[in-house]
Amino acid sequence: MQDGILLDVKDVSKIFGGLMAVHRVSFQVPRGKIIAIIGPNGAGKTTLFNVIAGLFTPSSGEIWFKGHKISGMASHQIASAGIARTFQLIQLFTNMTVHENVMVGRHPRTRAGFLSTALRLPTAIAEEKQIRGKALEMLALVGLESRANDSPLSLPYGQQKILEIARALATEPELILLDEPAGGLSVHEIEGLARQILNIRDSGVTVLLVEHRMELVMGIADWVIVLNYGEKMAEGPPSQIQNDERVIAAYLGDEHD
Ligand SMILES: Nc1ncnc2c1ncn2[C@@H]1O[C@H](COP(=O)(O)OP(=O)(O)OP(=O)(O)O)[C@@H](O)[C@H]1O
Ligand SMILES: [Mg+2]
Repeated sequence: MQDGILLDVKDVSKIFGGLMAVHRVSFQVPRGKIIAIIGPNGAGKTTLFNVIAGLFTPSSGEIWFKGHKISGMASHQIASAGIARTFQLIQLFTNMTVHENVMVGRHPRTRAGFLSTALRLPTAIAEEKQIRGKALEMLALVGLESRANDSPLSLPYGQQKILEIARALATEPELILLDEPAGGLSVHEIEGLARQILNIRDSGVTVLLVEHRMELVMGIADWVIVLNYGEKMAEGPPSQIQNDERVIAAYLGDEHD
């Protein structure tokens, strides 16, 4: 393993039928950074996340995390190894409280079995207490602790997205994959989200972010990777990507019109 490289995506492809959704993509995610993946609709960004998280196995190529090959492992094993993710569309449990939604996220880190939990054995009770505490810590990290007992539906949309991030953080990941966290957010909400993502990075969690909203990407990313038709078209610091003629023509052009 190269020093400081947390995630190493090596020549990864994913083919659906005849469609090359991801084509020979390679990049590295250094520990402690915020790395953004941008690109037009259908460029393969979510597919790449699904391959990293183990929802799909790559058609070819390999993915390494902390010096171990994770491609081919089941998604729950990859979650236990330290990779958490959020989804492009909100997936909250609306019949649970904000607090309980984060407790659910803790699942990959719990030990007490179903029976000991059902029988309320001391180990299970102690563990539940620990889960409650940890979940509250995560809510505090993202500034939602005062809403712990509310329904997630009572939160503004932007805070629902942040709640999803808190739930992913409850697994205590070393790497978090955020798929379009700013989708549908107002400019004001994006500023709040940017602060939260910077806090998460500062708390020691490395961030890999798929995002269309350039005000977020260019404001917080240390490094930007551009996907286009499944291929990596460019990568570099935000200032360089913003001025890359090919990227502007393929993707950023619309924003400049
Ligand atoms: N499960 C699947 N089966 C077949 N084709 C798929 C599947 N998932 C994605 N695709 C196709 O792969 C391509 C890449 O899709 P993907 O969702 O990864 O794009 P994206 O970059 O996330 O786009 P968006 O910005 O709209 O979210 C698209 O052509 C899509 O239709
Ligand atoms: Mg997508």
